[in-house]
Amino acid sequence: MIVRNTPLKDTKIDKYIEIVTIPTAIDVTEDRKNVGIELDEITIFEILSTSYEKVILTIIETKEDLENLVSRKPDLVFSGIKYFDFDEQEIWLSDYLKEHDIYYITSNKEALNSEYDKNRAKEIVKLANINTANFFTTQPNEHPKESSLPITFPLFLKPITGGDSRGINADSIVFDFIKYQTKVLDIYNKLQSRTLVENYLSGREYSVSILENESKNILMILPVEIIAGKNKNGHRILDYDAKINNLEEVIAVTDEKLHQELCDVAINSFRALGGKTMGRIDIKTGLNGVLNFIEANFMPGLGHGYFYRSFMLNENTTYEQMILKVADAGLSL
Ligand SMILES: Nc1ncnc2c1ncn2[C@@H]1O[C@H](COP(=O)(O)OP(=O)(O)OP(=O)(O)O)[C@@H](O)[C@H]1O
Ligand SMILES: [Mg+2]
Repeated sequence: MIVRNTPLKDTKIDKYIEIVTIPTAIDVTEDRKNVGIELDEITIFEILSTSYEKVILTIIETKEDLENLVSRKPDLVFSGIKYFDFDEQEIWLSDYLKEHDIYYITSNKEALNSEYDKNRAKEIVKLANINTANFFTTQPNEHPKESSLPITFPLFLKPITGGDSRGINADSIVFDFIKYQTKVLDIYNKLQSRTLVENYLSGREYSVSILENESKNILMILPVEIIAGKNKNGHRILDYDAKINNLEEVIAVTDEKLHQELCDVAINSFRALGGKTMGRIDIKTGLNGVLNFIEANFMPGLGHGYFYRSFMLNENTTYEQMILKVADAGLSL
């Protein structure tokens, strides 16, 4: 179904972009695993329409809608959808578009899967010699005694997959075996998930946004520091409540050496994980100040969150400029 269409004007860039989404969720708090970015598609439509000759906003409901999309041969599909579930058939949008020689703004299925599984992502970056806290995965009773744990307390426990800090709260930081067992059980019962157990990184936290425009040879690597409020136990982590309530402060990284080190860890992680066009790499320091990879996000939120704030704080970019840069980068590969 075509929802909006721009009037043609010849002063604009001669490209045709389709913004692709799926029907709105009935329950807006639902965790839609096939949606990587919840786009504000009307705003994106308006921004892209100022610069591109033809912009269409499409809602895909059926396989036929998807087939019609590729037969219209847009120059770029601007979408936050990872995959469609048509009658039990999973079709990954970026790979499907690539097969049809249509450009898109995100990474392919393989890279998206590598970052989605935080254990796998850590294994990959570790192999690439990037620091990441020691880790293992578990589920209830898999490590029945304290002596069977491969790493020592304090530990940080979270579900192996997921975003928006689901399953991450003050109880994620554990100092003893009883609390460890309780959190592993809680993640298993509430989220039906195995747990990723890591050494707790008690230092500062950073997020580094990346945008790569290959044809113009522009690589933007934009670090920011995130200062979470203290939780009830006095720890600073970006847990579920902190993100919902927007309690954290986001500031520029002014120390040049640190800025460079953050850029190096971020781009090396992005490359190791096979990221394409854009992403955000989360990094935290331990007591010794060493930067550790936490996780990658190759479908970063395109609202006014960390990705946008990285642009604003490093490059003074407006929101509109950022969206146009993302589209331009997508058109390049
Ligand atoms: N090993 C660790 N030690 C200390 N804190 C950690 C550790 N791992 C994660 N955290 C804290 O938990 C937060 C959320 O973790 P993570 O980034 O893995 O989750 P997420 O839900 O995928 O986040 P996002 O919303 O960025 O996708 C981090 O931003 C950090 O504050
Ligand atoms: Mg994160």
